[in-house]
Amino acid sequence: MKYFNKILKIENLSIDKIAKKFKTPSYCYSYNQLKKNIQNFKKSFRSISPLICFSVKSNANINLIKEIKKFGLGADVVSMGELMIALKAGINPKKIVFSGVGKTPREIEFAIKKKILLINAESKSEVIEIERIAKLKKKSVNIGIRLNPNTDAKTLTQISTGKKDDKFGVNDKIFFEILKYCKNSKNLNLQCLSVHIGSQILNNKPYEKMLQVIEKIINKSNYNFKFIDLGGGMGISYGQETKKLNYQKYCIAIKKFLKNHKSKIIFEPGRSIIGNTGILISKIIYIKKNDKKTFVILDAAMNDLMRPALYGAKHKILASKKRSRKINLTHEFVGPICESTDKFISLNNFHELKEKDFITICDVGAYGMSLSSNYNVRLKPLELLIRGSKVKIIRKRQKYKDLI
Ligand SMILES: Cc1ncc(COP(=O)(O)O)c(C=O)c1O
Repeated sequence: MKYFNKILKIENLSIDKIAKKFKTPSYCYSYNQLKKNIQNFKKSFRSISPLICFSVKSNANINLIKEIKKFGLGADVVSMGELMIALKAGINPKKIVFSGVGKTPREIEFAIKKKILLINAESKSEVIEIERIAKLKKKSVNIGIRLNPNTDAKTLTQISTGKKDDKFGVNDKIFFEILKYCKNSKNLNLQCLSVHIGSQILNNKPYEKMLQVIEKIINKSNYNFKFIDLGGGMGISYGQETKKLNYQKYCIAIKKFLKNHKSKIIFEPGRSIIGNTGILISKIIYIKKNDKKTFVILDAAMNDLMRPALYGAKHKILASKKRSRKINLTHEFVGPICESTDKFISLNNFHELKEKDFITICDVGAYGMSLSSNYNVRLKPLELLIRGSKVKIIRKRQKYKDLI
């Protein structure tokens, strides 16, 4: 996303041109940014040759997953639907891991049938259920146990998953109980210890602490785990952050850990792969002013992009045409939905805007479209993949007949 002579572009195409041709609201993804992110991730961790499983929950567009697959990545899924999409996109089942606290018998059966790499169990009841189904199918199933390492990821509470009061994983006591249980089972093949402490992590310290906790647990268990799944969570810049996650430092910490433990590392990154590839283009329907502020009413709403309403996330907004005059008033960018939380951001001193102008909400590739809904019976947006000057429709805009 860059301005060229005050015209905003994604790759070689102007936002205005895309918006006029494909209408709004529309999600657009930059292929070259996606490629850059994957190459950067791979390069940063090359020395430990991990299995990188893209976290499908961050963006479940099958056409994007097909592109991601071409770079050799696997998938991290949390439902049967996500597993079906990953398989349909052509991802090798031996590169798929399945997490989640509430896998149903149907989902477990499907995962066993598809011979995926690992089912990462999150409770003793789930382990027993996997064993029951495996026995019934006369199979030995590869599983992981998700440990709750009681580590504060120092991120938003709503996206923190590794503290002892969070619902995810099991504590060390139950971890050892499950380990013992698996040793006595003919149908369970315990291969992995998994963790995921949260999302949008910008500080290396929580990861280092998490590795120390894992190290302690492994030493105490005296068990050889074929895989250590470290989850995802690597944060990106949304424009306001002062910190940046240092991949190199994280890699050094993992290498140190691997000196004593000969396991294959698995990562489950979502946001760091897809977050900054996506934008949401929207049109200004009306501008209305009161004494204190200007409401910029967009045709995109919280149903299209839920993150600001859900956890107060802030996304940069850019005008598609940068007019020279700046207006020194609070601009509140809102959607048309009948909720006060249908608000994207308040900005002071913005470039002059006019009704029917197009604007761009930035860095929405992760947890943007995947969290969208049909609230207020609004249609889900179109998705486009931009590569140089080429545009490909990767998901059609919903139609009213799909809903009514
Ligand atoms: C188990 C698991 N793995 C991976 C991810 C991906 O996280 P991120 O998009 O922050 O990399 C999540 C997201 O919360 C998750 O719950």
